[in-house]
Amino acid sequence: MTASAPLYAAIMDYCQKAGTRLHMPGHAGSKKAFPEPFHSIIALDLTEVQGLDDLHWPSGPIETAQQLTAQAFGARKSRFLVNGATSGIHSFFLGLGEKSKVLVARNAHRAFYTGMVLSGAFPVYIPCKLDASGLALAVDEHDIATLLSEQSNIDAAALVSPSYFGSTCCIDRISKLLHDHAIVMMVDEAHGGHFYFHPRYPQTALAAGADVVINGLHKTLPVMTQGACLHIGKDCPAPERFLRAASLLTTTSPSYVIMASIDLAREWMERHGREALERAMLLSNAYRDKIDSIKGFGCSIKELMITGVQDIDPLKILITIKNLAEDGYTVSRRLRQEWGIEVEWESRHSLLAMMSIFHEEKDWERLYQALSRISQQAGHRVAAAVAEPPPWPEPQVQLSPRQAHFAPKRAVPLKSSVGRLCGEMIVPYPPGIPCLLPGEKITAEVCTYIEELRRTGHHIQGGEGEADHILIVDGS
Ligand SMILES: Cc1ncc(COP(=O)(O)O)c(C=O)c1O
Repeated sequence: MTASAPLYAAIMDYCQKAGTRLHMPGHAGSKKAFPEPFHSIIALDLTEVQGLDDLHWPSGPIETAQQLTAQAFGARKSRFLVNGATSGIHSFFLGLGEKSKVLVARNAHRAFYTGMVLSGAFPVYIPCKLDASGLALAVDEHDIATLLSEQSNIDAAALVSPSYFGSTCCIDRISKLLHDHAIVMMVDEAHGGHFYFHPRYPQTALAAGADVVINGLHKTLPVMTQGACLHIGKDCPAPERFLRAASLLTTTSPSYVIMASIDLAREWMERHGREALERAMLLSNAYRDKIDSIKGFGCSIKELMITGVQDIDPLKILITIKNLAEDGYTVSRRLRQEWGIEVEWESRHSLLAMMSIFHEEKDWERLYQALSRISQQAGHRVAAAVAEPPPWPEPQVQLSPRQAHFAPKRAVPLKSSVGRLCGEMIVPYPPGIPCLLPGEKITAEVCTYIEELRRTGHHIQGGEGEADHILIVDGS
């Protein structure tokens, strides 16, 4: 096994041969401070000693492991990341020129926004397509084409596919459109690392023509938390700028344990991934139908196939609360307290269960049994109204996220904020899409929307006192 997981092999070799470790890390591999089983991890926790290469100038086992990863994913080059998908997204923005104009999917993770604070990019936001329960599932090529016809000098596009909920965009068609306009495209494929190991899972962003792809490998593969990868696509223009940015943002003491777990996971997936993914897909097909047939719940893929969605990850099980007398928060609490089941995410209208290739039939069955029992006990009523989607902002921001980040700010009552520039991120859940980002103009429409959410008891991230007050850019 170790021959095809070169970094892991080099670490094991070092551990077997090393006598006295007179180098970092400070634990020196000693058992004294660490009880078992933690000690076994610590023993492998090494640094750039002889034979173990250097992530910043790789020419040994790290380089070989990265090349094997690139081959497995169909990339021109792959670079290990030890600070999650976030650092890959930051690397993309930092690799673009200062003040680049970038099309940014509005359903993006906060790492897009913080990446723009680092780089100085100016976003032009792409609206998203929402499902019936208000969840942002995709961006659509037609909306991108409209923005391209309205906006000039777009340098890059930054999209999310799959979404957190498992829906993929038509990246192949979007990629063609953007490349016709000579626009470099990054896809945050944080939740799609497993797509590369089975042909009937959704099409991968690299195969669909993306220039830069970020996989948060720890999310869906047997990789330790923080392990991720930045891939360079086959036709990416000037790829070195993104790799240099990744190096600039990376610690000089990257975790060898995390990197070795990426090496081992890639190796394992090449050997066993297809079979494991096949089994998981069959379980998913069977249990989606079973869950969909429980009174009060919905789990049909059909409802997710809205405009802009190309495919759905079989391992993201999005369960809609239909006409159950309990909401998603209550169901989630009952699953935890009565069944010991912890779901990935919940909202008033939905639950998201993340299944992995390592879950067995008994795990799927337990979820099904629990939901069936809750349905019988909870009773049913007319379905609750779904929150309206936020009003989309003007595509063009007034200040870049970086300018807004550094600008002096003060809190004002929400009512008197209309016409000012927002100084913070306001995110209602659901749908989890920011309805205001720093640097955006606060419209009367968005104020009314926030007031309505507050009145109906929705959870809002940002805004002092549940968005009773809001931070504005001073002097705006
Ligand atoms: C879609 C998406 N992109 C990026 C990230 C950031 O990933 P990480 O936590 O690996 O930095 C997340 C985290 O949940 C995410 O859901």
